Amino acid sequence: MQPSVAPADPDAFDALLRARYSCRGFQTRPVERTVIERILEIAQRTPSWCNSQPWQVHVTSGAATERFRARLLADARAAMEAPEPDYPFPREYRGVYQDRRRECGFQLYESVGVRRGDREASARQGLENFRLFGAPHALIVTTEEALGVYGVLDCGAWVNNFMLAARSLGIASIAQAALARRPALVREFFGLAPDRQVVCGISFGYEDAAHPANGFRTSRAALSEVAHWLDA
Ligand SMILES: Cc1cc2nc3c(=O)[nH]c(=O)nc-3n(C[C@H](O)[C@H](O)[C@H](O)COP(=O)(O)O)c2cc1C
Repeated sequence: MQPSVAPADPDAFDALLRARYSCRGFQTRPVERTVIERILEIAQRTPSWCNSQPWQVHVTSGAATERFRARLLADARAAMEAPEPDYPFPREYRGVYQDRRRECGFQLYESVGVRRGDREASARQGLENFRLFGAPHALIVTTEEALGVYGVLDCGAWVNNFMLAARSLGIASIAQAALARRPALVREFFGLAPDRQVVCGISFGYEDAAHPANGFRTSRAALSEVAHWLDA
């Protein structure tokens, strides 16, 4: 028998998407394992090419998070100049992409009090990535190498569903490409098989609502900038 379909509620869905934001300041309080499992169960409904479900996730809690945080911080302090991601980071941000990147960067810096041109302060804020923004949990998303770019795409869809499911349960999160910059470290830390490729990480937990880094919300382009209609 088919499960019954819940009544469509686009406003609730819209509200959930609007309530989610990238959290960059967390409480230390851990998330109950049952809540994390519920989020993961919901995210399992993500569609994927041929239903391949390429995502594998490694989730840290407690002492494992602390060990991961310490490893990341030590590595970032020693080798900031050498990202070697499994999938290349953007080569260049041009035009409107550069504008949007700048806008959200300035919003973050303004919130946390980093003045324009203060490289030391912006580097310090950048390091927060490797402190996992103080989160009690991190996870790493990997795909199988042979599935190529569509495997990565499926993982991206999973990441978004994870973050929305988390928000629906009162859990804040942030996707972090920064955690994919040194896959060798991640591979060793989590004991990943050689064919697993690191897509990105997610830090998550209860938000610290008073943290200045959580004090802004990003904009989105108008539909007219992204939708192109062909009617005849
Ligand atoms: C795949 C992905 C990777 C990201 N990596 C980082 C990261 O490494 N560090 C960071 O501070 N934010 C990261 N972000 C967060 C984006 O900057 C953020 O989603 C964007 O500015 C929109 O803001 P919002 O999430 O608050 O709506 C990432 C987001 C995505 C989707």
